[in-house]
Amino acid sequence: MKIDELQAVVPTSNMGPYEQAYNNFQWEDVERHFTWYETGKVNMAHEAIDRHVEEGRGEKAALLYCDANRHETYTFSQLRASSNRFGNVLRKYGIGKGERVFIFMPRSPELVISMLGVLKVGAVVGPLFEAFMETAVKDRLQDSGAVALVTTPALLSRVKREELPELRHIFVVGNMDEREQGIIDFETEMLMSSEELEPEWLSREDGLIIHYTSGSTGKPKGVYHVQNAMIQHYYTGKMVLDLREDDVYWCTADPGWVTGTSYGIFAPWLNGATNVIRGGRFSPEDWYRTIERHEVTIWYSAPTAFRMLMSAGEQVVANYDLSSLRHVLSVGEPLNPEVVRWGWQVYGQRIHDTWWMTETGGQLICNYPELPIKPGSMGKPLPGIQAVILDDRGQVLPPNRMGHLAIRTPWPSMMNRIWNNPDKFQEYFRFPDWYVSGDSAYMDEDGYFWFQGRIDDVINSSGERIGPFEVESKLLEHPAIAEAGVIGKPDTVRGEIIKAFVALRDGYTASEALQQDIYRFVKEGLSAHAAPREIEFKEKLPKTRSGKIMRRVLKAWELNLPTGDLSTIED
Ligand code: WT7
Repeated sequence: MKIDELQAVVPTSNMGPYEQAYNNFQWEDVERHFTWYETGKVNMAHEAIDRHVEEGRGEKAALLYCDANRHETYTFSQLRASSNRFGNVLRKYGIGKGERVFIFMPRSPELVISMLGVLKVGAVVGPLFEAFMETAVKDRLQDSGAVALVTTPALLSRVKREELPELRHIFVVGNMDEREQGIIDFETEMLMSSEELEPEWLSREDGLIIHYTSGSTGKPKGVYHVQNAMIQHYYTGKMVLDLREDDVYWCTADPGWVTGTSYGIFAPWLNGATNVIRGGRFSPEDWYRTIERHEVTIWYSAPTAFRMLMSAGEQVVANYDLSSLRHVLSVGEPLNPEVVRWGWQVYGQRIHDTWWMTETGGQLICNYPELPIKPGSMGKPLPGIQAVILDDRGQVLPPNRMGHLAIRTPWPSMMNRIWNNPDKFQEYFRFPDWYVSGDSAYMDEDGYFWFQGRIDDVINSSGERIGPFEVESKLLEHPAIAEAGVIGKPDTVRGEIIKAFVALRDGYTASEALQQDIYRFVKEGLSAHAAPREIEFKEKLPKTRSGKIMRRVLKAWELNLPTGDLSTIED
């Protein structure tokens, strides 16, 4: 299929012609949209929810929630009322501005309501993916100094309260057999509290959200975003998602990850759209049924999901009416040209790739409705954003040269800090005026950016970012393991899978049973998505003289590539 064919129907969009939008852009024009532009009073939950009620859209459906057991609709008025209730509950327990409140639960209306309630009182919300196990939960709550947590009875056992002295309150959504000290019943408190609440008025530089994400070394980093990010969320919602008055929008990501908050909660509601949230696991049938039932017009998902839908086949698609779809987008990992072609052939939709990161808080390089798509490219920088390719010394490279993908600082949703870790934060800004992403890419002569890979060892499995260090640390807690090195191994469906190389302690022998035990150990201790699907036993692992495992060499072994410079290897 030729690119021209992909462009067969070029729709009109909120952005209009790209070049014109890029050249005429002013952030100030976006800022004027917000009530705080006049009042100086800032609060994300007010802009996303209450504002629509105040402006007469209270009866519009804000949330269409569905999973295997629940199908519920919430209007903006209802979300305003219930998030106010939870805000009042938090205030009753003395929780307020700047304090960190974490949410550890599966997707549900209560997750959304508690998140909005936290924001109403000016606290900083920290979402945790439901698959996190003990160690992952503890590390994040400890590092952030969270004072409160919202969770479910099933997940509560993964919260090691004795190691979390700062965690004062736990709100539990759902029935508990026994009442424990410090455990508060969400439902009871909600019923007792008022629907009216004056939000905490903040400044644009006050905290909004912390997302923990992985790097190549050390524990996960708390990427801290401030209220100002809403400028980017609103603007990209309009220009990239192309949200309009009557759209029904569905972002498939979980709010445990940044896509699920920036684009699962903030962007759609800042734009007053009807937002679908689906709980439960992936299945092609359930996903297509969701589009059909809710007449979804805009759909934001990820390459892994599209690849799984592709392997489920065209037959499945034929059983559903997907004709409501108007705009389809993807994020998280490279979107294969093959998937773009499939989308065009089978859904009649151009899948628009978008590039950004937890640290950037919002989309930066994208394909826009009115821009021709080059399958395999991430697109062009958003109006207001300057993207370049730098060499190792921080000099801007000409087109078609591969180097560090970097963005001119600042932009509204740029992270404000790494919690507790100013040194890590500084590493991103080692070249003056540039944020260095950690991705390598090149820009072609038409200004399109092409992703090449990660410069560090960060693994991207099914669009989820996994730090090898966190997995290695967990592996070393296993009694049989003396040394561990973890890499991403290319995989056609998941992008990469996690592969571990391990050296055993004396007295242990390699076996399939041991492999399975190690897999389970990581899965149950850390999380399922971080568990190594492949484990290879080695006598010894390649290390530098300072004792660092050389993942680069492991990767070369795995891919049958030359191992490169070994001058720093131990022996
Ligand atoms: C890393 C960021 C922010 C969305 C979810 C991921 C990779 C992201 C693309 C894309 C190729 C992509 C990059 C990036 N990535 N989008 N369109 N094409 N790679 O957020 O967990 O912070 O991961 O995901 O490597 O650095 P994240």
